[in-house]
Amino acid sequence: IYQPPYMNWASGALRGAPLICKTTHLGDLPSVFANDIAWRQSDPRQPVYRVEMFESPSGEGYLYTGVTHLHPGLIGDEYFMTRGHFHARREQGEIYFGLCGEGLLLLQDEQGKARLEQVSTGSVHIIPGFTAHRLINTGSGVLSALAVWPSLAGHDYAALAQGFALRVVEQGGQVQAKEVQNG
Ligand code: PA5
Ligand code: NI
Repeated sequence: IYQPPYMNWASGALRGAPLICKTTHLGDLPSVFANDIAWRQSDPRQPVYRVEMFESPSGEGYLYTGVTHLHPGLIGDEYFMTRGHFHARREQGEIYFGLCGEGLLLLQDEQGKARLEQVSTGSVHIIPGFTAHRLINTGSGVLSALAVWPSLAGHDYAALAQGFALRVVEQGGQVQAKEVQNG
């Protein structure tokens, strides 16, 4: 009987198979946060998020499984978030599952229309093809989410170099979504 790898559903920790891990620090995220002065004053070595995924084969029909652990924090009044991307193969979708922490999934279609979904323990997010996605941590602890996506989907970060059409900020202790002019 094959003993499959497993995930701790409370923490998102992956075990039982080789992993690929990548940490993204504040210094890796130029032009991502609206307040460039606040970003420049921040510690570039501070980790913002870590993605752990099972090492697994890639090819037509194969899926990748990974967990994003996004730290809490603010740059200016804007919450810590992932860079966000479209898939290089635009038609490919993805599923996110909220594991722990509190946050938002920012989705944006190719016409630039953005929307938000609440991410919390057990939430299931079906990201259709042709839809850019970014995680935002609005809570006080780490936000962890499991993702499953086609191995050939790829990442297109350049298409969102102008940013998303919504920014999520803390105002008076409240979470607020603000529409952005020119993305
Ligand atoms: O596949 C996904 O969408 C996630 O695993 C993301 O890649 C992860 O959350 C990191 O975000 P980004 O690739 O936008 O830096
Ligand atoms: Ni993706």
